[in-house]
Amino acid sequence: MTGTPGTSRGNWGSRIGFILAAVGSAVGLGNIWKFPYITGVYGGGAFVLVYLGCILIVGVPIMVAELIIGSKSQKNPVGAFRKLRSEKSPWQLTGWLGVAAGFIILSFYSVVAGRSMAYIFKAIKGFTGSANEIQSQYTVFLGDSALSILWHTIFMGLTIAIVIRGIQMGIERWSKILMPALVLILLGLSFYGIFFTTGGIKALSFLFKPNFSQLSAEGVLSAMGHAFFTLSLGMGAMITYGSYLGKKINYAKTAATICLLDTAIALFAGIAIFSLVFQYNVEPSVGPGLIFSTLPVLFAQTGPIISVSFFLLLTFAALTSAISLLEVVVSYFIDERGWSRTRSTLLLGGAIYLLGILAAIDNLKVPFRGKPQPFFDIFDFITTNYMLPVGGLLICVFVGWVMKEKLPPGGSKSAAFFYRTVMFILRYLTPIAVIIIILHGLEII
Ligand code: TRP
Repeated sequence: MTGTPGTSRGNWGSRIGFILAAVGSAVGLGNIWKFPYITGVYGGGAFVLVYLGCILIVGVPIMVAELIIGSKSQKNPVGAFRKLRSEKSPWQLTGWLGVAAGFIILSFYSVVAGRSMAYIFKAIKGFTGSANEIQSQYTVFLGDSALSILWHTIFMGLTIAIVIRGIQMGIERWSKILMPALVLILLGLSFYGIFFTTGGIKALSFLFKPNFSQLSAEGVLSAMGHAFFTLSLGMGAMITYGSYLGKKINYAKTAATICLLDTAIALFAGIAIFSLVFQYNVEPSVGPGLIFSTLPVLFAQTGPIISVSFFLLLTFAALTSAISLLEVVVSYFIDERGWSRTRSTLLLGGAIYLLGILAAIDNLKVPFRGKPQPFFDIFDFITTNYMLPVGGLLICVFVGWVMKEKLPPGGSKSAAFFYRTVMFILRYLTPIAVIIIILHGLEII
């Protein structure tokens, strides 16, 4: 598993270290901030059911495909396609698209993550005042660009500091500390939600009792789009992480484990948040503000222990995801340009930081798709709706139809069956599902 120690690329120290880091990449703002709020917007149970279906049909197979590309090539996303095809192969554009997507996603991701860090300190001070007062505090905070930039600076600085230390000393060590801490805090919050609030039962039925009349076509499509984002798929993050793995792994089992943990954590986050939402009769469909403007109203009554641990958890989760985004970009410059890890991380991290400043200024708007919009929304829109699905489609076609990956030798009968099933889905069902997402993004269907 340790591959070739002593090379400058680095390798994972252990299989569990890899799993924790991959789960760390997948679990982030997508699970804890985005999943609950879009579940609220699209009506609950039925949306959750479709999302789970998408994890199976799109998520697991593309995760397998990315791990195969990464561990076969032992390269960054661009180098991987070059190595598996040829130096001049047009497939390397898939890798380029991924590196570019990672660059843009991290720039706005760091802004939300920075806000989450700021809220740790707000939570320590304590949320006080009426519901309206607390909500308007968020609006004021959103409008204070200098403060947003400051927290973005701190968060990017932390991300850069970890990635500079490389695979084992940096990413793996931090994931080993942060991931279990995250799971503990989250379990605590959801148990609190179920057993100590009056909203627990309502939250469970909201999340797990499907009511299909609530589900719109747009809800189905958003569920598919979110599967990409939450599992860090479509831009080569899992290619990069897979490249630090030895070649002998059970891809399907590893992918299934990562997807299962990511999904479980999203569901626990949903339980924790909706228990509070229903206890205080807050509207579940308020949208992206759910965490920052609505939850503090509830936190004012639950006290600082719950609120501080919540925002700590969110920041941990965002940090391990941000690390994976930066690692994709950095590994490209290390492998393909021969830069040192330190130089790559500082220069690229710095450039991403500068782009992020645009995303941190909420009142700086430019015309986009017919109306003035902040850069934050534009970056999110372009990457999530176009870059990730197109990247995912190319990765899936590459492994399913170009590489025609054979079953790895050895292993049990059931493992072979599982692998073949995943490959069948990857070749036939996944591309169709992804094409639908892309056409929807283009408003063609
Ligand atoms: N999956 C992370 C989340 O849910 C975000 C993320 C990290 C990501 N790396 C990625 C999204 C790569 C897309 C691609 O918050």
